[in-house]
Amino acid sequence: MSHVFYRQPGQEYPVAVAGDGITIVDRAGRRYLDASGGAAVSCLGHNHPRVTEAIKAQADRLAYAHTSFFTSEPAEQLADHLIAGAPAGIDQVYFVSGGSEAVEAALKMARQYFVEIGQPERRHFVARRQSYHGNTLGALAVGGNAWRRRQFEPLLTEAAHVSPCYAYRGREPGESEEAYGLRLAAELEATVLRLGPETVIGFVAEPVVGATMGAVPAVPGYFKAVRQVCDRYGMLLILDEVMCGMGRTGTLFACEQEGVRPDLVTVAKGLGAGYQPIGATLVARPIFEAIRDGSGFFQHGHTYMGHPLACAAALAVQQTIAEEQLLGRVRRQGARLRELLATRFGDHPNVGEIRGRGLFQGLEFVADRASKRPFAPEHKLHARIKAAAMARGLLCYPMGGTIDGRSGDHLLLAPPFIVSEEELEEIVERLAQAIGAAVAAVSQAAA
Ligand SMILES: Cc1ncc(COP(=O)(O)O)c(C=O)c1O
Repeated sequence: MSHVFYRQPGQEYPVAVAGDGITIVDRAGRRYLDASGGAAVSCLGHNHPRVTEAIKAQADRLAYAHTSFFTSEPAEQLADHLIAGAPAGIDQVYFVSGGSEAVEAALKMARQYFVEIGQPERRHFVARRQSYHGNTLGALAVGGNAWRRRQFEPLLTEAAHVSPCYAYRGREPGESEEAYGLRLAAELEATVLRLGPETVIGFVAEPVVGATMGAVPAVPGYFKAVRQVCDRYGMLLILDEVMCGMGRTGTLFACEQEGVRPDLVTVAKGLGAGYQPIGATLVARPIFEAIRDGSGFFQHGHTYMGHPLACAAALAVQQTIAEEQLLGRVRRQGARLRELLATRFGDHPNVGEIRGRGLFQGLEFVADRASKRPFAPEHKLHARIKAAAMARGLLCYPMGGTIDGRSGDHLLLAPPFIVSEEELEEIVERLAQAIGAAVAAVSQAAA
């Protein structure tokens, strides 16, 4: 028996031994097309020579130097690179080792900012239901993913949750997208007023919701209206781009497409593309200055933050994306993927919506299209699709609880930016077979 404590103890996993382009190979020699980059991570595919060379070169020079003594060349260069492409006003980068750590740092930085500027009464975060911001306790507390939170509720600090921007199910009949967005911003404002605006630190949201709902972008104008609410009450806008950032949606930062200015942005998965564990919290200048010129110390830190190998890998990843103009490729291949999905699933009786941006596309499954009725959760359609896809040599990212943490199934596709047109066709072909097999199995189980 293995001594590795797996995500799902008791389950058996194939042993991954090699990777090449968008393919992962297991020990039995089976090949899998990685159509989700794991969990929207592997944006350059596997075994990219430029990135692996950068890691080796850095390891040969210096693997580690603690950040309380030193900075490092890769960390400095990566920060410069990120800030050059960051939204206006974002000026500093705090490096950590993953998405949850990036969110924790953002939450603590936001709180400390208000302490530094003499507003210590600010203590509440507002976030959204059906969102995911990480599994550490602070990130889980702001997250609105009901099934992930449930058993840990007694340990979580209080956070207020408002409705997600989920037009497929949330928009009223006859309501325009713009009116829907304004209604949600009004709900946020009412929540802030209920809590007492002088007690609210900020609003936390994913610009395109990833794992919890399956690539759901906001309606036009929603984030602008949200920004106005934040400005009106002196709150910070904290955007979690751990999954949707770093080019995944066709722009380096997903929020560029919303035309809003965040105060803090978290990134992780596509930053290091899986070559090293790395995340970052990007910070607007006033927050940095308040801490630098106030106590002079952000009371946080981790042993492995700003790790030179991780920064060297991420720098090589980000330079590759820039030099090979991969954002344009994400937009082109994303449009092609969307076309293929629309052709294959546009009239599919069990696909309620196809959505997303760039190479970040989602399908929401329904038992009945007209009423949008979901499949019964006990049939675990999402798990069946994952297994059926894997049996056909396809990796995708399905999840359940799309609607309320219990009902609903969706699937996320996030192939590497280097994916070819032929590979996209193959992905959609295998996906159609997997969905067909899974739906048939559910129908049989229900009969
Ligand atoms: C939006 C978002 N935030 C935070 C996280 C947590 O990141 P990590 O798993 O690297 O801790 C995730 C992971 O899926 C995510 O999608």
